[in-house]
Amino acid sequence: MLTQVAIIGAGPAGLMLGRLLDIAGIDNIILERQTKAYVLNRIRAGILEQTTVDLLRRAKAAHRLDKQGIVHNAVNLAYSHQCHSIELPELTGGKSVIAYGQTEVTQDLCDVRERDGGTTIYEAKDVSLHNFDSEKPYLEYKKNGVGHKVKCELIVGCDGYHGVSRASIPPEAISIYEKAYPFGWLGLLSETPPVSDEVVYVNHERGFALCSMRSRTRSRYYIQCALNDRVERWSDDAFWDEFRRRLPADLAQSLKTGPSLEKSIAPLRSFVAEPLRFGRLLLAGDAAHIVPPTGAKGLNLAASDIHYLSNAMLSYFKDGDDSALDEYSRLALARVWKSERFAWWMTNLTHRFDGDPFEQRMKEAELTYLSTSQTGRKMLAENYVGLPL
Ligand code: APR
Ligand code: PHB
Repeated sequence: MLTQVAIIGAGPAGLMLGRLLDIAGIDNIILERQTKAYVLNRIRAGILEQTTVDLLRRAKAAHRLDKQGIVHNAVNLAYSHQCHSIELPELTGGKSVIAYGQTEVTQDLCDVRERDGGTTIYEAKDVSLHNFDSEKPYLEYKKNGVGHKVKCELIVGCDGYHGVSRASIPPEAISIYEKAYPFGWLGLLSETPPVSDEVVYVNHERGFALCSMRSRTRSRYYIQCALNDRVERWSDDAFWDEFRRRLPADLAQSLKTGPSLEKSIAPLRSFVAEPLRFGRLLLAGDAAHIVPPTGAKGLNLAASDIHYLSNAMLSYFKDGDDSALDEYSRLALARVWKSERFAWWMTNLTHRFDGDPFEQRMKEAELTYLSTSQTGRKMLAENYVGLPL
């Protein structure tokens, strides 16, 4: 097989890139290790920055999002049993965020790709990368036990944190920056009306809690849990009891509970790999960086990578501008580090984990400052809606 761009991974990053390349008339193939059903059933975060919405519109994949996305004009911080609302448009010159699940984003991108005849090879096993330090890179993979080869001009690794792309780069060529947090998030999805109209981040003595939603009838909630906790230990009732205890009284009273549709535990990690270009191989999305979910930056960062990368690829294929690919690495990483800072800061501010009373007083003082100072509120709002591209 011969193509201009071989993309590894059919998550949101790979699908967004494939779509923008298709629209620009640049031939591409996506290789995905899992089945389509598996990819489309993963539950992940669900808050989109305006820049992500704009990119999905550019990709002509925002039809359903424009109808079903729920605009959030505020984000809430709860501490000392009180909820404080931070109004987004007032503090950011009119910006807000949109609640729309990553699962839906992936479905929409997958649908338009299929409709327009894009090639995605699911269950592509043992993908391996070759010669990306030369002019003639290629990939090999197996499908139903049969070996295949894809020759291309560029390879893009959109295969997430555990993918093969980053692992194929010689260790001396790549720098890794990493932080693991000593707790996880237990998440529950339920067909119940959301307890709050917007997201609420709760700093509570029993640990962090988060209220979010997928629609007006579907809620997504999380509680901080131990890193070695197991989801089987948590009945639905145990989750609801613990979650309710961490909410401010008015929210606890109005909380509607119901059977879980999904329940899972995820660890929290900050991670950045630099640079994002290695000859004819480029990395994007979770393959290159991970943020802890506090602040919902993961999908939005994958989208901003693809914004820069698709522009760079257009310059490369249309004007033969090779330096545009180096620029991709520089521009995308500049934004990545700012979002890394925000997610790390929001995580430290809202979670309890070191048991140090002084640290907790510092967090409370900062939360008070943030909710009462216009400058503090503005800093949080500016980052939450997403920094400019
Ligand atoms: N070969 C082929 N495909 C692979 C391989 C491999 N060796 N390894 C991983 N993949 C696939 C995975 O099955 C997955 O479908 O790559 C895809 C990567 O998708 P995501 O993990 O969703 O990563 P990305 O597209 O960068 O999206 C980033 O998704 O993970 C969340 O929090 C993250 O919101 C962020 C967003
Ligand atoms: C979610 O809706 O799943 C969500 C919202 C906000 C976050 C993380 C996750 O910070």
